[in-house]
Amino acid sequence: MKTDTQRKTKLPSTFEEEYRSAFGECAQRGGEAALSRAYDLGRRAISEKKSLMEIASLHHQALHGMLADAQGAARHQELLAAAAEFLAETLSPYEMAHRGVQDAIVALRQLNETLEEEIKRIAYAVHDEAGQLLVAVHLALADVARELPKPQKEQVGRIEELLNQVEKQLRRYSHELRPTVLDDLGWIPAIRFLAQGVSKRANLSIQIKTTVVGRLPGPIEIALYRIVQEALTNAAKHSKASRVRIRIGRKNRLFCCSIEDDGVGFDVRAVQSEGKRRGLGLIGMQERLNGIGGTLSIDSARGRGTRLLIQLPADVLHGHPHRAGR
Ligand SMILES: Nc1ncnc2c1ncn2[C@@H]1O[C@H](COP(=O)(O)OP(=O)(O)OP(=O)(O)O)[C@@H](O)[C@H]1O
Ligand SMILES: [Mg+2]
Repeated sequence: MKTDTQRKTKLPSTFEEEYRSAFGECAQRGGEAALSRAYDLGRRAISEKKSLMEIASLHHQALHGMLADAQGAARHQELLAAAAEFLAETLSPYEMAHRGVQDAIVALRQLNETLEEEIKRIAYAVHDEAGQLLVAVHLALADVARELPKPQKEQVGRIEELLNQVEKQLRRYSHELRPTVLDDLGWIPAIRFLAQGVSKRANLSIQIKTTVVGRLPGPIEIALYRIVQEALTNAAKHSKASRVRIRIGRKNRLFCCSIEDDGVGFDVRAVQSEGKRRGLGLIGMQERLNGIGGTLSIDSARGRGTRLLIQLPADVLHGHPHRAGR
């Protein structure tokens, strides 16, 4: 039985009710007002995350009902014409949103290219400039040591050893930041190089298995390298795993790359829910993939490790506008 409050409160109409009512009005009277309701409904559908299939099915049902009630071929024709106009108007916000996404993808690609240039610049600066400074420090130390008695000479010797280690680490970091192997030999050798470093630093066994050979277009190789780099950083930073497996291959018409660890896992929904997101890594991976037409799925749960799966349609690999010019 309904309570008084329920009787008095008029519940807002659902999207489906509103659609039928506006469609009915359009079929009866037509006109700008009905089409404007269709457009507003399209915007509401987007905000309520209605899929195109849901709208098509709703439209089909409503039209079917109207055609069944209508008399005569002429009226049927009128209804069909009104229905086409109404549906087109409802879908026009989707069309605009789609164009917006395409523009955003182009902007993302450009942003990533600019970022890559910046990373390259930093990598070279670390390698060349910091390297040069260290050479100068070595020379200055050698000068100082020449005048010193033996015990102090030995102390300077130890400082030089430490400096050598700093130099080695800086070289390693600058190569990982923007490995020349990535340009010269491709993303898989670059990942092998990166994995060696991470494995040593994080005491993690990293196995790489691949069934693909050859090069991919430049922007795709860079994006894949950056994604795997972030996945390995996350595994080293958060997972407490002992083993990471990277598999690269093709399945039907898809190019796949998975990165799997046997660590503590995490609650993917909680980490990705709005308001809770803190890090930039996972979202950066997703955005890089959006920029090259790929998808990312994350399978993880507490205590069950983490598996990231990157998929790219094989035709994207060949039809990318920026083919590697190497
Ligand atoms: N392999 C993993 N194992 C366990 N937890 C993970 C793993 N990868 C990600 N996470 C969890 O997901 C969160 C989000 O990861 P994300 O890479 O987006 O951010 P972050 O690593 O915290 O910071 P940033 O990448 O910006 O330096 C992490 O803070 C961590 O809790
Ligand atoms: Mg991260």
